[in-house]
Amino acid sequence: MIVQINKSLKKLNTFGIDQKAERLIWAHSAEEILNYVNHHGAPSLVLGGGSNMLLTQDISGDVLKVDIHGRKVVFENDDEVHIRFGAGENWHEIVLWTLAQGLGGLENLSLIPGNCGTAPVQNIGAYGVELKDCFISCEGVHIEDKCFFELDLDGCEFGYRDSIFKNTWKNKAIITRITLRLSKRNHKLRLDYGAIKEELANKDISEHTPKAISNAVVAIRKRKLPDPAEIGNSGSFFKNPIVPEELANTLQETYTDMPTYTVEGGIKIAAGWLIEKAGWKGFKDGDVGVHKNQALVLVNYSDATGAEVLNLAHEIINDVHKKYGILLQAEVNLI
Ligand code: EPU
Repeated sequence: MIVQINKSLKKLNTFGIDQKAERLIWAHSAEEILNYVNHHGAPSLVLGGGSNMLLTQDISGDVLKVDIHGRKVVFENDDEVHIRFGAGENWHEIVLWTLAQGLGGLENLSLIPGNCGTAPVQNIGAYGVELKDCFISCEGVHIEDKCFFELDLDGCEFGYRDSIFKNTWKNKAIITRITLRLSKRNHKLRLDYGAIKEELANKDISEHTPKAISNAVVAIRKRKLPDPAEIGNSGSFFKNPIVPEELANTLQETYTDMPTYTVEGGIKIAAGWLIEKAGWKGFKDGDVGVHKNQALVLVNYSDATGAEVLNLAHEIINDVHKKYGILLQAEVNLI
């Protein structure tokens, strides 16, 4: 383990917020993490790729940065291969690595910021696919029980941007490895998401391979979403709200173009649409703003504080609530 004192976390969170850790501890193996937990209990904060959080304060105590690498085939037959990835592996790098080997499964999840170890926490998803669709298991350290754990697909209790790690195991587990199922042939391509079909047709690509789909997803995301290396952000700041059918119907009488999707438990409404219609898209105040191409994404143009981003989020939440009677919830973790 490497320990750094009073260290800025600006480069370790994609929002680029300059808050400090009293101690920043780099862990390179599951054993090191178990050893840490045995001696010190829970750290103040566990840091993965720092891509789904908003730091609003300095962190006193220890920030544990999970920096475990490794990619290992653990099972293979003619149809599929199971690969175990270290939690500290960058997500998009492993997506590209699997595609380069002709493997399918992760193409729709291209260019999602963050690391492998945090992917299960919010069951990352995009363009009709979620992590759970290729997930086999994850391993880690249980902080309270001070032991290693392994959870399979059911054990993770995945939902929309949700898992056991956001609920009963919140702050109780540190993921150290994940194992995913990739296809070697007969890839189950998911093209049902309109934008992907359009992108392939516009580029005149008729051979639908995992790599071609990944290229399409990368092109769409690059057009719509800011690159955290250029403009600080954490992807979608808010969740798409799921509301009762009656409310969705009433709203649709007034707003006939409002995008809705029927899901379990109600009607999912595009929060980006609500925020845009409320007039926030492209809003900028000093260093904080709402991205000009995707209203779900809040941005830090340079030196915004977490508190400034949070203020903007609250203003948007209040305004959307006043106008549509819908209470938006943050998708990112507020620290
Ligand atoms: N829309 C607007 N204005 C906007 C943004 C969106 O009107 O500023 C409308 C779009 O026109 C579309 C609908 O809202 O009709 C949905 O938009 P989009 O397909 O872009 O997806 P999203 O609901 O805004 C979700 C995920 C993204 C993921 C995309 C693509 C959530 C919270 N976000 O966004 O995930 O990439 O679908 O599948 O579910 C992330 O989690 O960080 C993330 C970027």
